Amino acid sequence: MAHTRFDGETAIVTGGASGIGFAFGAELAARGATVVLADRDGDAAAERAAELDRSRKGSVRGVELDVRDEDAVRAVVVDTIDRSGAVDLLFNNAGISAGGPTHELTGEHWDRVIDVNLRGVVNGVLAAYPLMIEQGHGHIVNTASGAGLVAPPFVTAYAATKHAVVGLSLGLRPEAALHGVRVSVLCPGAVETPILDRPPEPGLPPTAAAPVTAREYLAVVRQKPVPAERVARRALDGVRRNRAVIVAPPSAATLWYLHRVSPWLALRVTGMLARKVDRELVRPNTRLQ
Ligand SMILES: NC(=O)c1ccc[n+]([C@@H]2O[C@H](COP(=O)([O-])OP(=O)(O)OC[C@H]3O[C@@H](n4cnc5c(N)ncnc54)[C@H](O)[C@@H]3O)[C@@H](O)[C@H]2O)c1
Repeated sequence: MAHTRFDGETAIVTGGASGIGFAFGAELAARGATVVLADRDGDAAAERAAELDRSRKGSVRGVELDVRDEDAVRAVVVDTIDRSGAVDLLFNNAGISAGGPTHELTGEHWDRVIDVNLRGVVNGVLAAYPLMIEQGHGHIVNTASGAGLVAPPFVTAYAATKHAVVGLSLGLRPEAALHGVRVSVLCPGAVETPILDRPPEPGLPPTAAAPVTAREYLAVVRQKPVPAERVARRALDGVRRNRAVIVAPPSAATLWYLHRVSPWLALRVTGMLARKVDRELVRPNTRLQ
């Protein structure tokens, strides 16, 4: 199938130095877009952007950006409009994972996850949406998660922020359409990216669950990660078709369908998962402490 094109369009991708964000950047550049990879790791963003430029895929720039900083997000959006004349696409994609038994999470854990995963998306909307209204066009694509459609156990803070991102996106979509602006939400299943092996965010209090990675969690709940490139390709085709909710890979939608057909049955499934994760990951790990 011929992939949809983005010739002449300018896109900002937050969290663009790694994983899904980088795959978005590479695919957008390959499909003709001018791309800004914005990431809290400014060096990695610059290196990855140069890598894409060297492979002669579109025009790509890397900038340092912490999406928790409202003014900094606005500055990147304004600077991009100054350079390119418009921001056609904003991918609010930066996110962190956080898991563990909820009784072990402190206010600091919750704040960090909310600040990056929710407030970071809000900051993108605050910066770009009014300017897209002025432009009369634009597309905001927020990365949530399958965990934003049906909440799995032992990742409550993460799932809460991702549900909020789904709610923000679906609430904004019909309102934005009145101004010619589009809004989509991406809900990936398990994707092969560095997030799966990342240590806990620096500066947060240790928990007994801290040594457990997202990869180990996914293995216990039997989710096999798919390549980020595949997710980015499918997502961009969905963006071009202005899909409201883009689930990738398609198999990640199974629990969501079940949840809509029978919420009771879906809760039985998440109940089973809770017992399995508790037995195989939480309890053995707690004994180590
Ligand atoms: N990988 C998966 O299985 C999966 C599944 C569902 C949803 N997601 C979501 O996809 C998005 C991308 O995740 P990924 O898997 O590519 O992870 P990743 O760790 O590979 O990439 C995330 C990027 O975001 C950046 N980042 C983190 N905090 C930031 C901040 N405050 N400001 C700016 N940049 C920041 C990191 O430096 C990193 O480059 C996240 O929102 C994540 O929740 C991932």
